[in-house]
Amino acid sequence: MDGNGRWALARGLPRLAGHRAGTENLRRIITASVEFGVKYLTIYAFSTENWGRPREEVDGLMHILENVIDKELAELNKEGVQLRHIGHLERLAPALQKKVQYAIELTKNNSRLVLNVAFNYGGRDEIICAIQRIVRDGIRPEAVTDKLVGDYLFTAGVPDPDLIIRTSGELRVSNFLIWQGAYSEWYVTPIYWPDFNKDEYRKALDTYARRDRRYGGLSQSVEDDSHHAD
Ligand code: FPP
Repeated sequence: MDGNGRWALARGLPRLAGHRAGTENLRRIITASVEFGVKYLTIYAFSTENWGRPREEVDGLMHILENVIDKELAELNKEGVQLRHIGHLERLAPALQKKVQYAIELTKNNSRLVLNVAFNYGGRDEIICAIQRIVRDGIRPEAVTDKLVGDYLFTAGVPDPDLIIRTSGELRVSNFLIWQGAYSEWYVTPIYWPDFNKDEYRKALDTYARRDRRYGGLSQSVEDDSHHAD
């Protein structure tokens, strides 16, 4: 959800106003996801590096998360959204941890859309945690496979992302789903997150639908041609 700060700056507003506008947009994007038939949506809300931001901004973001749960949970539940969290909850205030856990528990049987919230999340941190748990579980080195590592990540049970959308034009991964995103398609737009509306979202999905995913192999059309030649 990149670009909230710059969106606010461009309007002479405090950064938190940008995060609030970004949160309102997230609500619209969740509704659009349900409408478009997207089954899994992962949002990068707070990275392990974001603790380095000014105290006021960090506190403000925690407050926004709390507010969103208070105000939107019942409606999200009604819409069939299943809430999940990736990252570490321990560093959050105990009351907020409880709210997040309650939201996860309440919505765990919903299946229209899985909304994965990355909060206090970092891809390297996730891989380190997975390795630590694999070692602790005494797994034999030969048993460490792609599938096994996946099962030890925060995203266990969630398919790898088909498409990663980065708003505000930055051309970097920023520690987001670095294992899971190995073969994801990327879509980068200069639009700031609060302005990334339903039409822009549809544009991203349309672009994705025209991509030729090869996973390191050959495209289907090249393979079909080579069969003709046989
Ligand atoms: C990136 O923009 C945005 C963030 C670091 C925070 C996003 C979090 C929320 C909107 C709220 C909390 C969470 C939920 C689940 C509602 P930026 O600040 O890096 O923008 P900039 O690069 O323009 O400064």
